[in-house]
Amino acid sequence: MIKKLQKKYALSEQGAKDLIKGCLACVLQNLSFMFPVGLLYYLVSDLMNGGVPGGRIPFYVAGCVVCIGLILLTTFFQYNATYFATYKESGIRRITLAEHLRKIPLSFFGKKDLADLTSTIMADCTFLEQSFSHFIPELAGSIISTVLISIGLLFTDWRMALAALWVLPVAFAIVGFSAKIQENLNQKAMDVKMACADGIQECIETVRDLKANNAEQAYLKGLEKKIRAVEHRSILNEFGLAVFVVSASLVLKLGIATVALAGAVLLMQGSLSVLTFFMFLLVVSRLYDPLQGALQNLAAVISTRTNIARMNEILDHSIQQGSDRLSNQGYDIVFDHVGFAYNTGETVLKDVSFTAKQGEVTALVGPSGGGKTTVSRLAARFWDINRGKITVGGMDVSRIDPETLLSLYSIVFQDVTL
Ligand SMILES: Nc1ncnc2c1ncn2[C@@H]1O[C@H](COP(=O)(O)OP(=O)(O)OP(=O)(O)O)[C@@H](O)[C@H]1O
Ligand SMILES: [Mg+2]
Repeated sequence: MIKKLQKKYALSEQGAKDLIKGCLACVLQNLSFMFPVGLLYYLVSDLMNGGVPGGRIPFYVAGCVVCIGLILLTTFFQYNATYFATYKESGIRRITLAEHLRKIPLSFFGKKDLADLTSTIMADCTFLEQSFSHFIPELAGSIISTVLISIGLLFTDWRMALAALWVLPVAFAIVGFSAKIQENLNQKAMDVKMACADGIQECIETVRDLKANNAEQAYLKGLEKKIRAVEHRSILNEFGLAVFVVSASLVLKLGIATVALAGAVLLMQGSLSVLTFFMFLLVVSRLYDPLQGALQNLAAVISTRTNIARMNEILDHSIQQGSDRLSNQGYDIVFDHVGFAYNTGETVLKDVSFTAKQGEVTALVGPSGGGKTTVSRLAARFWDINRGKITVGGMDVSRIDPETLLSLYSIVFQDVTL
């Protein structure tokens, strides 16, 4: 179960355990809110039987103290188990992502732009923080505590329980069925957001060239279109969510009406006591409130799938690994029938063989785009080659951990500014 949770929500092992603890804490907190209802039931029962006997007053006072104590205790436990654990996990998640990114081959960065990656580490992580501190534990908490309370209601009076509970499967089914539509809307909203973030970043990076070529206005027009698309998609997204959540909440409210109706009929038939009727009304009013929140949480949990998928795309990407031990004899760099292509698939190096001897200057001469910079990047294992072998002092670079390997190199790139 821990492994499943880790995969499903991109969590560390401790994070998965903390999530379970958080859910349990929410169940306990929800159940503690039912204790005052029980106390009220006894109080009303006494009042209906001619008032509270003097001997029972300490019982009610103690009951109140216990209720407050329980609520405080469970709230404290819930706060610790969700908030503290969530932010700790969030830190771990960001570091894990960054560590993984550090070891992913540079080819990955050719497929993903910077705005997209920044957004995964910052915005997606923040959204997941909210999910793990609020949405998921509260949703699990309300579902489990509702099931427990429902069992209690069914044992008390199954007819009234049915009148109160029929709305639950209907309301959850409405939100559940909307999952595919929501996922689709979320993905589209995310796509336009990424395109917009990328456009803004590109604009900032290239502002000098845009101004120099008098292309600023034309560029901004395109950027504005992207911003409008984000606005349009965000409204659609909110609307899609609201339609289902509001409909489900309305169905939930129908439960109060059916409890009142069924209660009135059963009362008139004489097969239900006023006290049980009163208790059902009380429980139902307490039951539906957290459930209404649960519906919103369910919708939010569904929408986390898009963020988690983006995170798992990074975490599932294979990393460049290798030995931490250097075994090179000298520093001769040898290219042996090397073949290489970037993500575009176009061959850049084909059957390249040469030796750059230690202590000598080796110059590569060729036309622009001929692959000179590529050769130096491959020697330092910024990318892994497709064919052949590259060695430093006889040591195959593809078998060495990239960071360890870089300790042998000093590189000054052509686009450096001193
Ligand atoms: N990150 C990259 N992703 C995809 N293609 C790339 C990438 N970097 C370079 N290329 C392509 O690989 C080929 C070789 O580029 P490279 O930069 O190695 O040439 P170069 O010989 O250093 O050129 P210059 O003399 O202009 O510096 C070019 O066609 C270039 O467009
Ligand atoms: Mg170059």
